[in-house]
Amino acid sequence: MSKKIDRREFVRVSVGAGAAAAAMASSGQAFGRAPGVRAQSVRPVVISDRSGAAFRNGGRLTCIELAFEGVTNGEDVLDAILAGINIVELDPEESGVGFGGTPNADGVVQLDSCCMHGPRKQAGGVAAIEGVRTPSLVAKAVMEHTDHHLLVGAGAQDFARNMGFTVEDDLNTPRTRERWLEWKRRLDPEHYLDPERRARHGYDVALGMLAEGLADESHFWGTVNCDAIGPNGDICGVTSTSGLSWKIPGRTGDSPILGAGLYVDGGVGACGSTGRGEANLYNLTSYLIVEKMREGMHPKDAGLAGLQRIKENTIERRLLKANGDPAFNIRFFALNARGEYAGVSMYAAGETFYGVCTENGAEEAALEPLLDGTPSD
Ligand code: GLY
Repeated sequence: MSKKIDRREFVRVSVGAGAAAAAMASSGQAFGRAPGVRAQSVRPVVISDRSGAAFRNGGRLTCIELAFEGVTNGEDVLDAILAGINIVELDPEESGVGFGGTPNADGVVQLDSCCMHGPRKQAGGVAAIEGVRTPSLVAKAVMEHTDHHLLVGAGAQDFARNMGFTVEDDLNTPRTRERWLEWKRRLDPEHYLDPERRARHGYDVALGMLAEGLADESHFWGTVNCDAIGPNGDICGVTSTSGLSWKIPGRTGDSPILGAGLYVDGGVGACGSTGRGEANLYNLTSYLIVEKMREGMHPKDAGLAGLQRIKENTIERRLLKANGDPAFNIRFFALNARGEYAGVSMYAAGETFYGVCTENGAEEAALEPLLDGTPSD
């Protein structure tokens, strides 16, 4: 079990090739070309985005710490991850996930999530679900109790109610409601434009609020992703989000979509994402990164290859900076069947670290950026 580490005690580490090599050496495994063969015994590890290492919902442990505890106590890896993800979903201070997530343009919190069980080769997801604080558990219920992968909107909510989940009228907190009201107030003068201009204007208003510090980049596309490998080599992952802040009602991003917000191949590895979901969806980048790991790439190189694909396929001017690079950030968190892992981002801006929990406890590891600068310089 990891020792309890207070967030202020976290050690900032860079998990690059050196650390990965050390991890391989400690597990006595040589790096070969095809990690598609499931490891019999590996060093357990749990990774997540920043929120999985930062929020405790008033309790003792973060998402990665609780997930690591569960994984090393022999719990099913997906159940251990979900217990960690629930901490983030239920924490009202995390305004990009679950209860207290940022609402859509109508002020309604709509949540997306999916989960994937590597050994069982099963997955479930929900999109645009309202009123349930823990969409990741509804995603698991979809996986376990239906023949389907994805339920959306009112149907997903009805399913959750029928499965015994508490359905609430409103998942806003005073803070998320206040910010939504401010967004509405700023948007109002242009409110009756044609849909395309209105959507663009809403996005620009939101970016202006980001620049003024009235919202933060981590929560603009706020999402939690957590992936883990257990001591027996079982690999699972979960992603959960309230999606893009003040989105058009019904907008669903990458988080509930297999291959985008999350992908797990039990014999190869797992990858999940936070950041601009549309860029991820256009490239099914988590799937791409898992496939790159299948070919033998280290998670860091596979992640950077995924970001490079996004960069190459981003050609709309509105999404580009003056120098032609993407005008948004996006991050991927990947681990392979050897227990090697990495976090990568388009830019070292906003969130610059991700969470890792091993037998040495929880750490903040530096995200490897593909590009210099920031999304807006
Ligand atoms: N990556 C979260 C979203 O775009 O909704």
